[in-house]
Amino acid sequence: MSEFPYLPLETKGWRMAMGLRPLDIDHWLEVDEGRESELEQKRRLLERAYDVVVATNREGDAGSRELLAEVTNFLEVHYPNITIELRDDDHPVVAAARLVQEDLCVLVRSDAWRLQAACVCFPSRWNLASKLGTTLDDIHRPVPSYDVELSRPTNAFFERLKPSRSFWRLNWTLIDSPALHQPTSARRSPHGDLADWFFRVERQTLRRLPLSDAIIFTIRNYVASAQELCDSHEEFGPTLLLNLDTAPESMQSYKGWIGVADRLRRSLGGVTN
Ligand code: HEM
Repeated sequence: MSEFPYLPLETKGWRMAMGLRPLDIDHWLEVDEGRESELEQKRRLLERAYDVVVATNREGDAGSRELLAEVTNFLEVHYPNITIELRDDDHPVVAAARLVQEDLCVLVRSDAWRLQAACVCFPSRWNLASKLGTTLDDIHRPVPSYDVELSRPTNAFFERLKPSRSFWRLNWTLIDSPALHQPTSARRSPHGDLADWFFRVERQTLRRLPLSDAIIFTIRNYVASAQELCDSHEEFGPTLLLNLDTAPESMQSYKGWIGVADRLRRSLGGVTN
């Protein structure tokens, strides 16, 4: 397995945090050897399930056009060998999303910051159509404790975000399928044990665009076999177990992890015996 780029487990146990870090804009989007296959998956999804992976309101048009210009400029500067082909009939957020492995969301300020355009081919168990036009608080309604712990700082962050300083953050989960396209929000516990599980990391970036004043949210997914990560990183298994054990029950239930820590404990015991 090639080196897995991000292992965002908390060494001291579960913590609910914004976890924002300053983004070096030269590393806004990431291109790797999975590009061809992921872009092919996007092409297929756009053909067969357009309404599942694309949602747009007119309010998001200007931000989408500026996003497309930013994406093409980024690729021209940092990946000059990539050929940029655009189709005339694509919405600009779709045109941009066809060029990169990231999923792309455009948020626009009206009475509040609202999601007004997006192309999300690789959702981690959420439904895009139901979030279109809604606020950050509504988008995050299913997330336990978001309202008390993250709503205020996240809204304040959006108000203060400047085009000159962008940010990124990581989310992770443990699931029983390596599929990138997981649009159903039902969260059942992963079946099986360590050998059947996958560690899925989302690398997210946040930028405010200067002309349209939209905020662009990008989501890039990385998935690896949990067993392989345990084998290749000594600390991974025990730290994963610590994070599962210390996550509040509401979060375990939201993430579909009920009973998973005990099964992981047994799997890890098997590895070390
Ligand atoms: C500073 C910005 C943000 C923070 C701190 C944040 C935080 C979070 C957290 C903690 C979760 C729980 C996910 C997990 O760990 O599995 C979550 C879920 C989610 N976030 Fe965010 N988020 C941010 C921005 C956004 C933006 C801009 C969008 C726009 C599309 C978004 C869309 C979502 C969605 C769709 C979910 C899944 C909700 C569901 O289960 O229905 N987030 N976010």
